[in-house]
Amino acid sequence: MEQPILRFPKGFVWGASTSSYQIEGAWNEDGKGESIWDRFSHTPGKILDGSSGDVACDHYHRYQEDVGLMRELGLKAYRFSISWPRVVPDGKGEANPKGLDFYDRLVDALLAAGIEPFATLYHWDLPQKLQEQGGWANRDTAAHFESYVSAVSRRLGDRVRNWMTHNEPWVAAFVGHLYGEHAPGLKDLKTALQAAHHILLSHGRAVPALRAGGGGRTRVGIVHNLEWVNPFTQSEEDLAAARRHDGAFNRWFLDPVFKGSYPQDMLEWYGAKAPAMQARDLQTIAVPVDFLGVNYYTRRTIAHDAKGDFLKVKRIWYHFVPHANFEQWEVNPEALYLLLRRVHREYGQPVMYVTESGTPSGEEVRPDGTVSDPQRLDYLKRHFAAAWHAIQEGVKIRGYFVWSLMDNFEWSSGYTKRFGLAHVDYSTQKRTIKESGRWYAETIRRNGIVM
Ligand code: FCB
Repeated sequence: MEQPILRFPKGFVWGASTSSYQIEGAWNEDGKGESIWDRFSHTPGKILDGSSGDVACDHYHRYQEDVGLMRELGLKAYRFSISWPRVVPDGKGEANPKGLDFYDRLVDALLAAGIEPFATLYHWDLPQKLQEQGGWANRDTAAHFESYVSAVSRRLGDRVRNWMTHNEPWVAAFVGHLYGEHAPGLKDLKTALQAAHHILLSHGRAVPALRAGGGGRTRVGIVHNLEWVNPFTQSEEDLAAARRHDGAFNRWFLDPVFKGSYPQDMLEWYGAKAPAMQARDLQTIAVPVDFLGVNYYTRRTIAHDAKGDFLKVKRIWYHFVPHANFEQWEVNPEALYLLLRRVHREYGQPVMYVTESGTPSGEEVRPDGTVSDPQRLDYLKRHFAAAWHAIQEGVKIRGYFVWSLMDNFEWSSGYTKRFGLAHVDYSTQKRTIKESGRWYAETIRRNGIVM
């Protein structure tokens, strides 16, 4: 029997994602300021393998070669992030022309290769100088973000159409300010919630700034990491626990943007720890966006746990379902399908892109120069199929970006996890397209997958 081909809509945007700190290196070159990730990774004990993003993939010097790699993959679009301290070293005040020049060159190289740039303004590398004034917990940071965004927009807005203000505000706020596993390494719930509010506020302020610099063609979105939450049992306690996890993780970030309010149940749960805000903040945050970016990796099963953390929940880890290598991430494409459908139904049918999706592994280049990563190929195929099914039901998914273009610095895991479509040998900086990457190129070429 002929295997079915799932064809994607004409013009579907196939892409790959990266972020500045994870690939650029050149951490102190050409006037770049220190970021909170420079400071954090230079602090002993914070990164699993003791590494840092000082050099990473050396993309700052090798961007032309990397655009070549994208071409070889046949990417229609490339999602990257702009480093705030490269552009405004102290976070506020004078812009650094050399920092802007780099992104200018990158954008021109992408356009010359026929690859549509999708630029993220904040993928976690806050200028360290601003952290010293309170970072995202300080309301002023939202105003400084708006000025930085305006400077970028004035420079690149004539060529970059698609912008994302923030990548994963939940991670920036909670992993950085409550769990302490990411920069700036704080551990306080009230601070995390305050940081989250200012990040969302800065999103609301940045949207008009981007539109002003882009003259009519600009499309702006925000990227949230979302999870499908699966209650462990149908007991009242577990259902309530799953709802709280969903409230803290998904609704706390979607509701302000799409409904102009924080979820009432979570405001009550947080009580005095809820963030301080001003009267018009939620109106500012709810400025209409052109699209939502969804980063999806896993599903989570949640049970009630009276001894659990601030949400009184615990995560159930099933041993009978597959997990991504080295991660407690359950591999569950159906949950992507359910999640996309849910966002469509509950949040006003927004245009969406899957802005990140992928899986880590540890494979190396074989003596014959190839890299075999069948589990990634399988992961991508089944998740693309999940998106395809959602599209058949009218969910407005316009594109899909694989995390990541190439292996890179995986935050507090250092270089121990490889997410790339291309393998990177960090001692030589040689890039080698993996078998999943070859398969992806074929998928893009036929705009469909053979199941
Ligand atoms: C996401 C991040 C991205 C990368 C992937 C694996 O949370 O946005 O930078 O680390 O996870």
